[in-house]
Amino acid sequence: MLINPKPEVVKSSHIKDYEKLYKESIADPELFWENIAKELSWYKPWEKVLDWKFPYARWFVGGQTNIVYNALDRWQNTDVKNNTALIWVAQDQSERRFTYGQLNEEVSKFANSLKSLGVKKGDKITIYLPRIPEQFIAMLACLKIGAVHSVVYSGFSADALKNRVEDAQAKIVICSNSYPYGKKIVESKKNVDEALKENKTVENVIVVERIKSDSPAGEQNPEIKSYKEIFWNELVKKQSPVCPTEVMESSDPAFILYTSGTTGKPKGIIHGHGGYMVGIYATLKFVFDISPYDVFWSTADAGWITGHSYILYSPLINGITTFVYEGTPDFPDIEIWWKLIDKYKITKFYTAPTAIRALMKFGEDHLKKYDFSSLKILGSVGEPINPEAWLWFYKNVGREKIPIMDTWWQTETGMFMVTPVPSVSLKPGSAFKPFFGIEADVVDDKGNKIPTNTQGYLIVRKPWPAMLLDVYNNPTRYKETYFEKIPNVYFAGDSAKIDEDGFYWIVGRNDDVIKVSGHRLGSAELESAFVSNPKVAEAAVIGKPHEVKGESIKAFVILKQGVVPSDELKMELVQTVRKSIGPIATPDEIDFVDKLPKTRSGKIMRRVLKAQELGLPVGDTSTLDD
Ligand code: WT7
Repeated sequence: MLINPKPEVVKSSHIKDYEKLYKESIADPELFWENIAKELSWYKPWEKVLDWKFPYARWFVGGQTNIVYNALDRWQNTDVKNNTALIWVAQDQSERRFTYGQLNEEVSKFANSLKSLGVKKGDKITIYLPRIPEQFIAMLACLKIGAVHSVVYSGFSADALKNRVEDAQAKIVICSNSYPYGKKIVESKKNVDEALKENKTVENVIVVERIKSDSPAGEQNPEIKSYKEIFWNELVKKQSPVCPTEVMESSDPAFILYTSGTTGKPKGIIHGHGGYMVGIYATLKFVFDISPYDVFWSTADAGWITGHSYILYSPLINGITTFVYEGTPDFPDIEIWWKLIDKYKITKFYTAPTAIRALMKFGEDHLKKYDFSSLKILGSVGEPINPEAWLWFYKNVGREKIPIMDTWWQTETGMFMVTPVPSVSLKPGSAFKPFFGIEADVVDDKGNKIPTNTQGYLIVRKPWPAMLLDVYNNPTRYKETYFEKIPNVYFAGDSAKIDEDGFYWIVGRNDDVIKVSGHRLGSAELESAFVSNPKVAEAAVIGKPHEVKGESIKAFVILKQGVVPSDELKMELVQTVRKSIGPIATPDEIDFVDKLPKTRSGKIMRRVLKAQELGLPVGDTSTLDD
């Protein structure tokens, strides 16, 4: 099935001829990216567009800039200063708005606050905040003074936070006391107290009072602490609204973002200022056809890369309005997203297949009363979108008039990599073709091209500007994970097919990463969560196809001798995993078993478990022990 773009969409599209521009961009990607970089502001221009010393790429070498210089500073002497940068709607539907001018002042005040606590260029700051404006202000303030933020999703548990704070050796942690989440109140400060019990690096904890409380910061927990607690408001009120933006080298780190891989420990993905900002700027501009009056809504959370690149940084670098809703898609009811789209005249709406599938369950009638005439482009990200969900979204939200941009990318890629642009014809379920300047392909395990419509490994042959700079504190893992599996290329970890028209069809992860509602979790990480319970001897975890979540977690658990299996114990293990990682990692099924399939060297063969579970051929078992 081919869905052709409507003439109005093509008319307003930045890109009229994808194929032509793609060919040109691939003939000289450095020229393509250099021209984009020239649209942005630099303190000092680059001497060299790309320095590619496999496997490290450094873009705009010698250039100096700062993401904040482009996201805020450069608008201050223009009309954009009075445009709305951020509209934030709370769960109770109250709102806070910031113009580019106001946001700049808030960011400067908080940047000065950080400086007053001794934060310097290169210091690491953990941001453990829910979806509130302070989350964005804190991120921008870090970059403004050259500090490196590590945003930890507010749904992660105390243990998960602890690991991330320790790995980053954070000097400051920014959190909220508590926050509303649907009908619940999440006491997130308690997680911070627990995470920092034995911490040696944190000097200050800055607490945002999302819910007014009576106790002053520092006295919420009477234990003696090695760090000082301060309320955000008290800190900020003394500060000047003017703060110079730090001059950064193009490849200086801007942030670390932890993501799950194949080992038990999440990887700290590092992104820089120059290349990253050029990549995210161009991709949003062309894929969502950015124009000055856009109100862009990405329903993600800044705890994930989507929030970094496309809720915060790229919309501001593009000078448009970014929209954020604090609540969940079903609170106060399942029509909240549709109400907000109409009320705030959202023009571009970017969400995840899991949310679409969850909302599909409520049928179509509830959407009919909404107008949706402000919408111009829809987007999808996080996992493959099944054609049924695509068509439902296209019909009921897009009213068969506006295209869906199914964007394939990763924390590591920083920006969209395989994606349509609005003027092309689409096939529901396919992420179209590579973005300009991106030489992607699907190959076999030796790196050879494979026949059309055959499943293989998704790779990228040449560097792109927002490519990760490294894995924090672990260059070996950087090389092994991305550049040694297949010679000379970037190995994405996804399986895909390319069809006869050159369209990419992403199949899913080919490593032991599980995608639960678009959230990335590692089998090994989940298994070590299980064995942290003293009753468990061994565990193996697989992802199983799930109608709404994409994948769900199934665990096979061997209990220690003498431990009696029971339903209560299953419940206890669910709690163990939630405590170790967070509610996003809640297992759906637990089977108690006596044995796990292993190789002769003792490695669990999850592949065999998965095939058995799904009733599929088990494949090559020559390495299977017994
Ligand atoms: C993995 C990366 C990139 C932002 C959110 C996820 C899967 C992502 C798509 C898509 C099929 C997709 C891949 C990828 N994925 N977008 N449009 N179609 N699969 O970032 O947590 O780093 O996860 O998400 O498996 O490798 P992430």
